Amino acid sequence: MPHEFERRRTFAIIAHPDAGKTTLTEKLLLYGGAIHTAGAVHARKAQRAATSDWMELERKRGISITSSVLQFEYGGIRYNLLDTPGHQDFSEDTYRTLTAADCAIMLIDAAKGVEEQTKKLFHVCRQRGTPIVTFVNKLDRPARDPFALMSEIEEVLGMRTVPRTWPIGSGEDFKGVYDVDSKGVLTFDRTAKNASRVPMQTSGIDDPKIDQLVGEQLAKNFRDEVELVTGAGDSFDQERFLKGEISPVFFGSALTNFGVEPFLEAFQDICPQPGARVTNVGKVEPGEDRFAAFVFKVQANMDPNHRDRIAFVRIVSGKFESGMWVNHYRLGKQIRLARAEQLFAQERQTVHEAWAGDVVGLHDPGIFRIGDTLSTGSPPVAIDAVPRFSPEFFARATLLDPLKRKQMQKGIDELAEEGTLQLFFQPGREKDPILGVVGVLQFEVLAYRLQHEYGAKVTLDRLPYSFARWVDGAKDTKELEARRIPLAVTDIDGKPVALLRDEWELLRMQRDNEQWKFLETAPIG
Ligand code: G4P
Repeated sequence: MPHEFERRRTFAIIAHPDAGKTTLTEKLLLYGGAIHTAGAVHARKAQRAATSDWMELERKRGISITSSVLQFEYGGIRYNLLDTPGHQDFSEDTYRTLTAADCAIMLIDAAKGVEEQTKKLFHVCRQRGTPIVTFVNKLDRPARDPFALMSEIEEVLGMRTVPRTWPIGSGEDFKGVYDVDSKGVLTFDRTAKNASRVPMQTSGIDDPKIDQLVGEQLAKNFRDEVELVTGAGDSFDQERFLKGEISPVFFGSALTNFGVEPFLEAFQDICPQPGARVTNVGKVEPGEDRFAAFVFKVQANMDPNHRDRIAFVRIVSGKFESGMWVNHYRLGKQIRLARAEQLFAQERQTVHEAWAGDVVGLHDPGIFRIGDTLSTGSPPVAIDAVPRFSPEFFARATLLDPLKRKQMQKGIDELAEEGTLQLFFQPGREKDPILGVVGVLQFEVLAYRLQHEYGAKVTLDRLPYSFARWVDGAKDTKELEARRIPLAVTDIDGKPVALLRDEWELLRMQRDNEQWKFLETAPIG
C-alpha cells in the first residue's frame, strides 16, 4: 500500500497580476472534477475587484480560508494548491506561502513575457531550491514569438528552459500543441463559454489536417520549429528540474482550456511528492510516524465579533488527527489540536485526518506565530522553514491623537507578531520603530487595522529605503555605523540590519564590506 503522502502534491502558482492565475486555478479544478463548470471562482474575484473599498469587503467577509489552499484530485493524485496572494494583498505572506510548496508553476502572459512580480516570486523559489514549471498562457491572443519568450526567461531569470509542448500558431491560429514527450500533435476544439473540458485529437506531426487547420505556411513554420526545438535544445531531465537547473515549458490558454490537459498530464509526473525537511533532530521524512508541521501563515479574523485567528500549518511528516496532542516547540508545552479546516474545491470542510504535504487551518486562540513547529514524540522538533523576508517599503507611523499612544503600540506589536509587518529599531529612537512591509498596500491595511481594531488613527510617512539586509558578521549597529551604512538598525531579535535605498547602494556596501554577508532573509527568533 503506498503511503498517503506519496499521492500528495503541494504547489503554488507564481505570476504577475492578470497573467491568468485565477483562470488557470479554475481550470485545474475543472479538470480535477472538483467543479463542473468554470466561471464561479472568476465571478467571485470580479466581484471583489469591483468593490472600491476592498478593505471593507475583506472585513465583512471575515476570515477567508477560501483563498489559502485549494484541493483537487487528478489521476489519483491529491493536489494542494496554495494561493499566493497577489494584487492588493501582495505581502510577505505571498513569500511565506512559497515555503510550504514543493513545486511552483510560473505563469507567464505570452504577450507580456516576464513581469515584475514574477521576477520577485521566481527569486524566492530559486533561493529555496523550489523546482519551477513554466506555463506560457494566453496563446489564443496575439503572442510573442515562443523562442523569444524562452530566451527572455533564460536571460532575465537565469534558468535554462526545456519545452515540453510547442504551440501551433497563436491568436486565432492557436489550434493545438506538439507534445515533445509523446511526439504527437494535440489539437483542440473550443467549447461553449470555455466552461468545460475541451475535446482533444491526437495525430502525427505530418498529418495534413494541420495544414487544413492553419494553412500550409503556418503548418510548415510549426514543423520547422518543432524540428529545431526537439533537435537542438536540452532534453528534459527530472533530476536537473528538481535541482532547479531547468524549467520545463508548456504553452496554452487557460481561458479556452487549450493545452491544460497535456500540462496536467505531464505535471503529475514531474511535480515532486513531499520531501524530507531538515530539523533540529536531523532529517524528518514525510513517511515517518512522528507528526511534524510548521506554521507558515497566520490570518487575523477581520470580523470584529471573532478575534480569533487561523494558523495555516504545513504538515511535514506523519498524520494529523483532530484532537491530537502535540508539542509546541516555542512554548515548550503540549497543546491539543482541536478543530482544523481544509478547502476541497470551494467547500470549507472540517478535517479529521491529514498527511504530509497537506495544509490545514487551525483555529488560533493566540498561541501560534509564523515559524512555530508542532510535533509528536520526543525530542520535540523545530523546523526552520519560514524566514523573515526583506521588506521593500519602509515607513514611520505618526499618531494623530496623542492620547492613543498605548493603543498604537499594542496594535503595532500585535500586527508585527502576526507577521503583517516587521519592526526595525534605530538606536536612540527605539520607541518609534520603523515599519517594513513587502507589498506597499500593506501600509493601507495597517493604517486601517490600527484605526478600526485598536482605535489609533495614524498616518504613515514613507522612508526612502528599498532593502533590508541582515548583516552577517557584524556584532551591532555601531559596527555598521562605523562603515557608513546608510541606516543601521536592529530587527525585533536585536540582529543588526542595514537599510539601503537602492540596488546601487547595496552593491557598493557589499563591495566595501567584503568581511560581511548581506542576507536577504533571516531566521525567525
Ligand atoms: P490573475 O488571477 O492572474 O490576475 O488573472 P485572471 O485569471 O483574473 O485573468 C486576467 C484576465 O486575463 C481576465 O480577463 C482573464 O479572462 C484573462 N485571461 C486569463 N487567461 C487567459 C487566456 O488564456 N486567454 C485570454 N485571452 N485571456 C485570458 P478580464 O477581462 O480581466 O476578466 P474577465 O472579464 O474575463 O473576467
